Amino acid sequence: MSRSAHPAGPRHADVLPEGHYSAPAADLNALDEKVWSRTVTRDADGALTVGGITVARLAEEFGTPAYFLDESDFRARCRAWADAFGPDADVFYAGKAFLSRAVVRWLTEEGLNLDVCSGGELTTALDAGMPAERIAFHGNNKTVAEIERAVTAGVGRIVLDSFQEIVRVAHIAQRHGVRQRVQIRVTVGVEAHTHEFIATAHEDQKFGIALADGQAAEAVRRALSLDGLDLIGVHSHIGSQIFDMAGFEVSARRVVQLLAEIRDEHGVELPEIDLGGGLGIAYTSDDDPREPHEIAKALSDIVTRECEAAKLRTPRISVEPGRAIVGPTAFTLYEVGTIKPLEGLRTYVSVDGGMSDNIRTALYDAEYSVALVSRTSDAEPMLVRVVGKHCESGDIVVKDAFLPADLAPGDLIAVPATGAYCRSMASNYNHALRPPVVAVRDGEARVIVRRETEEDLLRLDVG
Ligand code: LLP
Repeated sequence: MSRSAHPAGPRHADVLPEGHYSAPAADLNALDEKVWSRTVTRDADGALTVGGITVARLAEEFGTPAYFLDESDFRARCRAWADAFGPDADVFYAGKAFLSRAVVRWLTEEGLNLDVCSGGELTTALDAGMPAERIAFHGNNKTVAEIERAVTAGVGRIVLDSFQEIVRVAHIAQRHGVRQRVQIRVTVGVEAHTHEFIATAHEDQKFGIALADGQAAEAVRRALSLDGLDLIGVHSHIGSQIFDMAGFEVSARRVVQLLAEIRDEHGVELPEIDLGGGLGIAYTSDDDPREPHEIAKALSDIVTRECEAAKLRTPRISVEPGRAIVGPTAFTLYEVGTIKPLEGLRTYVSVDGGMSDNIRTALYDAEYSVALVSRTSDAEPMLVRVVGKHCESGDIVVKDAFLPADLAPGDLIAVPATGAYCRSMASNYNHALRPPVVAVRDGEARVIVRRETEEDLLRLDVG
């Protein structure tokens, strides 16, 4: 199922029939560069290498399952986003996709800003040296303690998500004798074509303040009236894994209309708008994501046009890509444990991880690709379902895929495009030990998040 036509979700009708799967690729050994990170290739023996290191060596040194993150690809994608948007715009990497101290350092070095949405992410960012003024703090229910910490650290902006929060942040800022820079997150009423759980700009969900019924205008009125707040702009995030730019265009248009209304009512032109993240990536060869420069051009054209029409100064644009930066840069490496052919149905291939390291398939019906990576094979394609080792049948990593029929226990297989929302949503279900994240670059591999151990489990369990 292609994500460009994708919609997956009860709100959207065009879901492919049950049991649908694409035909096998012409060559199962080929690695589609759309879904694999940039330094991935096969060596002369047919084994997959990343950053010049073969998976056999990586598995031996770091074990499986494990996430391998292609650092030079990550950095290149940061630069591509920064270059595409240029000096008059800001790119905030959305840390929820995957955050670690190493990642924060790479972002800092590559000139990106950071969007955090919890005290834990804020702590990670500050600890690794991200300057506070380059951090945006998000969330629909920030605690008072989190707001205190963000304000006292001096974060560049807090994105206000409710009427209560407008007052809360103003009060805390005033208590600390500062004027906190803030944006107001508005709900623009756009139906993003993505799974219901990751669409965020339709009316019936928990985020933001609705543009409808003058709610957002009222929020602006209150924010402008409070001494502790410096309202710098308006924020909109319409959802995730989106390919169609139309939703962003409608959102940009509505946000600019609000800026014009604010100018008319209050005589102030807010200097910034943030259009959020949500740009889709290729999980399978059927997906066709946009390049950052196309996205930057589409967004800046529409904002410029709308501002000209409304006779507004063009505001500074910011965006918050998470998945589009980190998603394609990592793969998960698994070892095949058991293989169970079910006559007339498919073959179940069980790996040493599962829904604890990738919940996205079970949660969003997400699609992934998979390849045999410890060797090549000329065997016939076999229809498989890659499953984990957890105690439930929904523990599926890749729902429908083809692997060579001579697949055997002990083979290594890899699932590409697992950089976003896999480690960050990993769990300890069945007391699984969350896998490590290993950064690979120029022939060197180093652990940036270590594997959990049974001692870690026992340490939390105080007995
Ligand atoms: N900005 C805001 C305000 C957000 O809420 C999000 C994602 C982003 C930026 C980054 O979106 P991205 O570019 O990564 O799509 N767990 C789900 C995704 C949830 C995204 C939540 N917010 C998944 O695995 O697909």
